[in-house]
Amino acid sequence: MKSTKRPLAAAAVALLTVACTQPKPLWQDSKAPLEKRVDALFLALTDDEKVDLLNGGGWMETHGNKRLGIPPLRMADGPMGVHSWSSPADPDTPATPKSIPATAFPAGVAMAATWNPQLVEEEGRTIAQEALALGRDQILGPTVNIARTPLWGRNFEGYGEDPFLASRMAVSYIRGMQGEGVIATVKHFAANNQETRRATLDVRVDERTLNEIYLPAFKAAVEEAGVFSVMSSYNKINGDWASRNPILLTDILKKKWGFRGFVVSDWASTHSTASTVNAGLDLEMPGAATLPSLFELIGKLPGGNPGYDSGYLAASKVKPLVASGEISKAAIDDSARRILRAMLAMGIFDRQRPDLSGPPPNVDTPGRRAIAQAAATEGAVLLKNEGAILPLDAGKLRSIAVLGPNAAANRSGGGGSSLVSPPAQSNPLEAIRRRAGSGVEVAYAAELKEAVDLARRSTVAIVFVGTNADTESEMFDRPSMDLPAGQDELIAAVAAANPRTIVVLNSGCPVNVTRWLARTPALLDAWFPGEAGGDAIASLLFGDSNPSGKLPVTFPKDLKDTPAYGHYPGTNDSVEYAEGIYVGYRHYDKRNIEPQFPFGHGLSYTKFEYRDLAVLPKSPRYGQVVQVTLKVKNAGPRAGAEVVQLYLHQVKSAVDRPPKELKAFRRVELKPGEEQTVTLQLDRASMSFFDPAAKDWATEPGEFEVLVGASSRDIRLKTAFELFE
Ligand code: GLC
Repeated sequence: MKSTKRPLAAAAVALLTVACTQPKPLWQDSKAPLEKRVDALFLALTDDEKVDLLNGGGWMETHGNKRLGIPPLRMADGPMGVHSWSSPADPDTPATPKSIPATAFPAGVAMAATWNPQLVEEEGRTIAQEALALGRDQILGPTVNIARTPLWGRNFEGYGEDPFLASRMAVSYIRGMQGEGVIATVKHFAANNQETRRATLDVRVDERTLNEIYLPAFKAAVEEAGVFSVMSSYNKINGDWASRNPILLTDILKKKWGFRGFVVSDWASTHSTASTVNAGLDLEMPGAATLPSLFELIGKLPGGNPGYDSGYLAASKVKPLVASGEISKAAIDDSARRILRAMLAMGIFDRQRPDLSGPPPNVDTPGRRAIAQAAATEGAVLLKNEGAILPLDAGKLRSIAVLGPNAAANRSGGGGSSLVSPPAQSNPLEAIRRRAGSGVEVAYAAELKEAVDLARRSTVAIVFVGTNADTESEMFDRPSMDLPAGQDELIAAVAAANPRTIVVLNSGCPVNVTRWLARTPALLDAWFPGEAGGDAIASLLFGDSNPSGKLPVTFPKDLKDTPAYGHYPGTNDSVEYAEGIYVGYRHYDKRNIEPQFPFGHGLSYTKFEYRDLAVLPKSPRYGQVVQVTLKVKNAGPRAGAEVVQLYLHQVKSAVDRPPKELKAFRRVELKPGEEQTVTLQLDRASMSFFDPAAKDWATEPGEFEVLVGASSRDIRLKTAFELFE
């Protein structure tokens, strides 16, 4: 470029030229190998700046680093959609609205009831897209804690009682979410299976049970989905807090499973500085700045603060301990690198953030709502349908009585940090009115007498019952399996007034149905169905959709029959998982207890036939994949989907093994008369058990029974193979 007469301009041009040709720091080069970017960014940090990465900056974000252009990591709850990241505890949050117009997906238990990994992956992808549009980088989900007792207040948020089903759902959700560049956070690590005294509880659980029941979904999230964040739980496990438990966080998570992301504490769940950092907690949330107002709020709880604590990874506490050597520099460096790795791997430095100066955009598009509706439709479980009272034929109906406390409101989700506030929701009453059309009189009543009178004079009566976000929630467990007061009486009275009574249930956990089920020909469990619950329920009731959901939790007849009965909620802040591996259907099978509705149960408006079960090879060696094939036919009058379930039983073993364990499944859609070959695979992991003596998974040669069916109690075909070393 020709020099000009004005030296200043020339200098400016020269500077600009240099600046433009100055190579970007390697870590800003999105094409550079990830670990090279991590190294480059890590080496640019001062020791103090590394320590600043280990504690939160606000309620839902980290500090970031202005000098190097590291943005704060912006988080949001929750597994069923983007929940507002504001908090009364965070005076500094810019006026974030208390409700964010995002898509409310069905609760986790409903997603599990779809047994459809592809749909759950689409859910993860969709929530990630919404998070990005709202400027968030990390979603605090999925929740994968096992439903140990029907009373856990957050059963709705998890994927039910079986570790294999929970693992498949978690892997799909995480792959969908992280595929879009949003960090997923598998939670709550580990053995967080009750709300009662969650912040102080010590869970006493043997190593085999921990590894066979409570850890598998976390292991799959790390090893199969490459999850970039794990949230440690509030409780202790075998004597030490999850947030500073070196066996959990370092030995198992980071060393044995090779976890490369970062462990974030649950909110206000840390209890020390050196032992927490050295155990492998990488990020303490929420930020120290929010703690005074947070503890003021918590202190107002009835009974005061029940044990929440935090602020131990503030720089002012960590730095002196690094200087004294009580905290190893290696621990600080490892935590800093893990956080940087997750941010770099998810492209947080490589993308523009949306302009959020104005109100948040409505990200609940019709396309996304359609996915939520499909999930609600596929997740609903038809538990009973005597005399094929369902589906309803609008052409043959004069009038429909729509009754009960959940009829005119959509119970999209359970209470607490996971509840999403979509811009619009469909409730059953409106949806039934729309679907029935003008030729059918649809009337509504909630109170008992009015409801009974209306039922008596209607062609059919549909009673909408169950819990809601106020009665089934984070922070407290359910008092019993009973429906909320008055609902049993309502159902019984309506069923007595009209034999064509259908019950639709909203809840995240099994409920006691024994007081009225015998007199009620149909029962549909819609769970907490997300924003499109009403439309999904109407489409199922009228047969526009054919129910295909299967129970991810057993419905027991009585709480006394349940595995944890007698060892829940524990005494003096200690709870013994005395039932061991016999959780869920494993328990009912082992103890030969008849459930109300078994794990894996779900009816259809058509029927399916199974034949030609075969396994190859019949005599596999360790490590050989066993291929299981069978034919499934839709032998009924309408299209439908069946979830074929494969359970495995080791006939003879050195340890006690359950009568059957779910090890594979496939959801298959079939037209009337159509038959498909279903292929399922078993690998060595399918056949193994955790051997506490070896502190590892073990396999034994011998005979394995293969049980294939439509539920854990509806086994249609059996065969066996002989495993050799
Ligand atoms: C809550 C929940 C956790 C949530 C976090 C942030 O206490 O246990 O699931 O992600 O705090 O809201």
